[in-house]
Amino acid sequence: MKTILPLLLFATACLGDLATDPVLYPYGPSEGDRVTPKKDDGYIGPISISDTFIFFGKKHNALYVNNNGVISFGVAVSKYTPDAFPLADGSPFVAPYWGDVNNEITGTVYFRESKDPKLLDRISKDMKIYYPNLDYKAKWSFVATWDKVAYFGSRSRKTNTFQAVLTTDGKRSFIILNYGPITWTTGKASGGDPLTGLGGIPAQAGFNSGDKTNYFNIPGSRTPDIVNIKKTSNVNNPGRWVFEVDKFRAAGGCVFEANFVRYNESFWKDPTCETKCTCNMEGDVDCEEEWCSSNLLCEPANWHYSCKIGFRQCF
Ligand SMILES: *[C@@H]1O[C@H](CO)[C@@H](O)[C@H](O)[C@H]1NC(C)=O
Repeated sequence: MKTILPLLLFATACLGDLATDPVLYPYGPSEGDRVTPKKDDGYIGPISISDTFIFFGKKHNALYVNNNGVISFGVAVSKYTPDAFPLADGSPFVAPYWGDVNNEITGTVYFRESKDPKLLDRISKDMKIYYPNLDYKAKWSFVATWDKVAYFGSRSRKTNTFQAVLTTDGKRSFIILNYGPITWTTGKASGGDPLTGLGGIPAQAGFNSGDKTNYFNIPGSRTPDIVNIKKTSNVNNPGRWVFEVDKFRAAGGCVFEANFVRYNESFWKDPTCETKCTCNMEGDVDCEEEWCSSNLLCEPANWHYSCKIGFRQCF
């Protein structure tokens, strides 16, 4: 017994590793998923969908699943190096991880439209946690999963797994972006190192509504930090980002000029720290005139400014 027990524990740990990441909704052949062509920069579409999906005020009845980590409306996306949002050409799309996937090397892109009550119930329950006041009941969903996909020019065995879920109750619509293991950021043609899949212009995650104001970059997008996306979240569930997209709201906080601010968090928006803004619990940013207190200095902090303890030079 004494020797068998550690072995059993080891076996259990291994089984755990094989099981699907809990942040991902079920996918694959057992769920009846279809697959996109195994082709570099490939895509499938337009795929008709049975319910209308409202994306920033526009109604969509078809979509494209693009191998390079994008679900798009109206037009396929074969571009492999991500452009910064907002896109100049106004393409509306959802980008769980826009980068140079090549699943001719390895990996599969699965997708399905689903009204399976079990899945819809799970989505509704998750949304109840993120939006406790909404009482959202999912009526439709679309699940696309990039399963263990390689990057263009790969000379490693690295793969990425991620998923985008679209859901609507006919009125409100949401996107849920889920991340399994993410190990590469960049294909060779985007300046990446074939041996590591890193460097160059890294992948971009978020979405582009098609207009100039509604877009969102998950922090780290197009920087080396995007490889850590699985550790980040706006809903306190590492590896998951959730957005309401019929009109723009981000769970867990506010959006200010495409930047995410947590509930109750404050920042100064001007380089002289004269206007202080706070994200309120309704998801709106309130700004009012407020200066740094006299012992603090106004300093740049990421995309905004903050009042910090500093050394004031006296003359
Ligand atoms: C934000 O502040 C309000 C009022 O002080 C408080 O009720 C609420 O729980 C806070 N929310 C978070 C997420 O910290």
